[in-house]
Amino acid sequence: MSVLDRIAERQLVVVTGKGGVGKTTLAAVLGRLLADRGRRVLLLEVDPRESLHQALGTEPSGGEVVPAGPGLSIQNLQPGAVIEGLVREKVPIGYLARKITESTAFHQFVEGAPGLKETALLGHAYRVLQAGHRPRTDLVIVDAPATGHGATMLAAPGLLAQAAEGGQLGEMAAGLADFLADASRCGVVLATLAEEMPIQETLELIALLRVKLGLRPELVVANGMYPALSPGAAPAPGAHLWQARRRLNEAELSRLAAAWDGPLVELPLLPLDRGPALVQALASLLREADP
Ligand SMILES: Nc1ncnc2c1ncn2[C@@H]1O[C@H](COP(=O)(O)OP(=O)(O)O)[C@@H](O)[C@H]1O
Ligand SMILES: [Mg+2]
Repeated sequence: MSVLDRIAERQLVVVTGKGGVGKTTLAAVLGRLLADRGRRVLLLEVDPRESLHQALGTEPSGGEVVPAGPGLSIQNLQPGAVIEGLVREKVPIGYLARKITESTAFHQFVEGAPGLKETALLGHAYRVLQAGHRPRTDLVIVDAPATGHGATMLAAPGLLAQAAEGGQLGEMAAGLADFLADASRCGVVLATLAEEMPIQETLELIALLRVKLGLRPELVVANGMYPALSPGAAPAPGAHLWQARRRLNEAELSRLAAAWDGPLVELPLLPLDRGPALVQALASLLREADP
């Protein structure tokens, strides 16, 4: 079974890594590939600076679900909006719900409860996957926030469950923590560049996921690799710089491979702008490389 075959069986896939390494692009690539396999995929973007729609060539979501081709939709999701939506659902009287969500106590609770925001986002993903939900979704891919580690997000429901000590919120968080711990349903994909700092953080994140959550990533993607120059190519201006970047990429990739024995795919830096053509090209390459 290939890595993509395995990922296609999951219900929730969290794509994480340092900011700027190609997380959003990779989330779009995975979304496209898994939708092509017949899965109904929702891509959730958490970054308030929306960019997922640009990668896929759609309108910005602004919180709404936006179609992005056969079997694929995107949604930008802000934790505050999700939590307020939950309050409105529980308190159907409009002005009462507003009174709650506009109160200082509510804001203090939202900001102060450990892991509440992250739990709300993952809880949204979980709800979307339930049988009765329309439109039906088989798989949610979360493009995790750039700040902080994706591990913080994944650890949040467990933390909240402990802090809440039972009650409705605590039980909901505990149920979500169990779902996330189920490797047959949830997976993590790590994006990185083959450069010193991103590789260092990737190694730390792999260790953190293992120690804190007992999770092992499904796949690590080394993105933006400088392609090797063909040996016979005529020396061009800047070729030595290119070669130096390539050597650095190779050295850092070896450092990663020495500590990570799981699936690892390299994706090249392509001369394409953010957009569907880049996603399409990287999707073909990932499909071919699928270990
Ligand atoms: N393999 C690649 N080749 C060329 N450009 C890429 C590649 N991967 C990502 N990019 C570009 O790099 C920029 C950052 O990628 P993005 O996916 O937004 O990163 P992140 O979500 O990690 O911040 C975007 O402009 C994107 O189009
Ligand atoms: Mg991003």
